[in-house]
Amino acid sequence: MTVLSISGLDAGYGGVPVVRGLNLEVSAGEVVALLGPNGAGKTTTLRTISGLLPAIAGAVTVDGRPTDSRRPFRVARRGVAHVAEDRSLFPGLTVRENLRLASGLKRRDRAAAYERATDVFPALGPLMNRRAGLLSGGEQQMLAVARGIITSPQLLLVDEMSLGLAPVIVEEMLPVVRRVADEMNTAVLVVEQHIHLALDLADRAVVLANGSVVLDGDAAELREDPSHIEASYLG
Ligand SMILES: Nc1ncnc2c1ncn2[C@@H]1O[C@H](COP(=O)(O)OP(=O)(O)O)[C@@H](O)[C@H]1O
Ligand SMILES: [Mg+2]
Repeated sequence: MTVLSISGLDAGYGGVPVVRGLNLEVSAGEVVALLGPNGAGKTTTLRTISGLLPAIAGAVTVDGRPTDSRRPFRVARRGVAHVAEDRSLFPGLTVRENLRLASGLKRRDRAAAYERATDVFPALGPLMNRRAGLLSGGEQQMLAVARGIITSPQLLLVDEMSLGLAPVIVEEMLPVVRRVADEMNTAVLVVEQHIHLALDLADRAVVLANGSVVLDGDAAELREDPSHIEASYLG
């Protein structure tokens, strides 16, 4: 079942596309790694999917319905969780309060949501009353991801989860997106600089370069023969 469908998407800033003619589908329970060098247009793509940027041309649908750009909160309410590059936490609020602010979390589901957060990230358990601004980088990223997944989203977008984190923490955290896809049947689109770690857990990988898809393949095959992915990065 296709959850995210992107066809002929041009996305960018001030009417000038930096992503051109993008076609991409992600199914329920599938993890797709969106790879590519800096400036390729990965963040722009995620921001357009979640309605933070209006599409210049083309269509983005989630569950068969177009996402209405300029209304990100509506897109969120329809089950799209976006863990942004900057983590977008409220540093003065506690971990629990940050979780409470997850888009689309209903009051009656709060207790179960906190439980799910600490089930996925046990390290958050003893930190529930700590202010987010006092957490380590890894803990902040756990909180950002936890806030994204506690509502069992239909579509999870994760932008460079591992940015600024120690490799050992990355190896611990990245598999969570696989678990979310397997256990919640969520469609996951993950932007990641650690290509090999991303290929280890993804079903498919798409490489963007200069705003266009230069490679779209099965993650297991790309793992076996990394020459294709290396070539795609070099252009
Ligand atoms: N707010 C912005 N205004 C204008 N150009 C931008 C803005 N943000 C990013 N860009 C440009 O869009 C291109 C793609 O950026 P981005 O999507 O952030 O790439 P990636 O996430 O793959 O590193 C880059 O050339 C970048 O300079
Ligand atoms: Mg980026």
